[in-house]
Amino acid sequence: MKKSEKGEDRNMGKVAIYPGSFDPITYGHIDIVERALEIFDKVIVAIAVNEEKRPLFSVEERLQMVKTFFKDTPRVIVDSFKGLLVDYVAKTNAIVTLRGLRATSDFEYEFHMASMNRSLDTHLDTLFMMTSKDYFFVSSRTIKEVARLGGGVEGLVPDLVVRRLKEKFKLPVTKRKQIGWDD
Ligand code: PNS
Repeated sequence: MKKSEKGEDRNMGKVAIYPGSFDPITYGHIDIVERALEIFDKVIVAIAVNEEKRPLFSVEERLQMVKTFFKDTPRVIVDSFKGLLVDYVAKTNAIVTLRGLRATSDFEYEFHMASMNRSLDTHLDTLFMMTSKDYFFVSSRTIKEVARLGGGVEGLVPDLVVRRLKEKFKLPVTKRKQIGWDD
């Protein structure tokens, strides 16, 4: 289906897909979703299932955290996908994929990914939104590192995520090593 045809579905309105690992979701991600809702009628937060990345949270845990946060925001759909993003997008009515850009260091990775996706599907555009200044330094990776070492991440991730991180990192270090979290 051509991009313009997808965008013309009156029942769905304009839909954007926001894909990512969301391991875990941060206020940086949430800021992008909230700003995207000003432009799009619906935003699909699409959690990638990629066990090679050895996520801290299972896909079910990530889905639960994101769904709980957006439970009162019906214009946000939370879903997960396996395999190629372009294949997932093709099954939806989305007109673009959305990514947040924090700094120039994000650019190269994002540029490669957007270019690869465009080469796989010439109709797929990636829209970049600059992360708000309050969250420029926030990434799921650093949140996990700080939480693992006992630092506070309140205000950077939703309260539910703070609690889930505390539960995860309460496990003894030996157990964490066994399941690969401390590599
Ligand atoms: O939050 P992340 O880990 O930076 O998100 C990366 C993600 C999940 C968007 C990307 O890895 C992805 O789209 N994975 C699905 C597999 C795929 O389509 N790969 C080809 C794009 S290079």
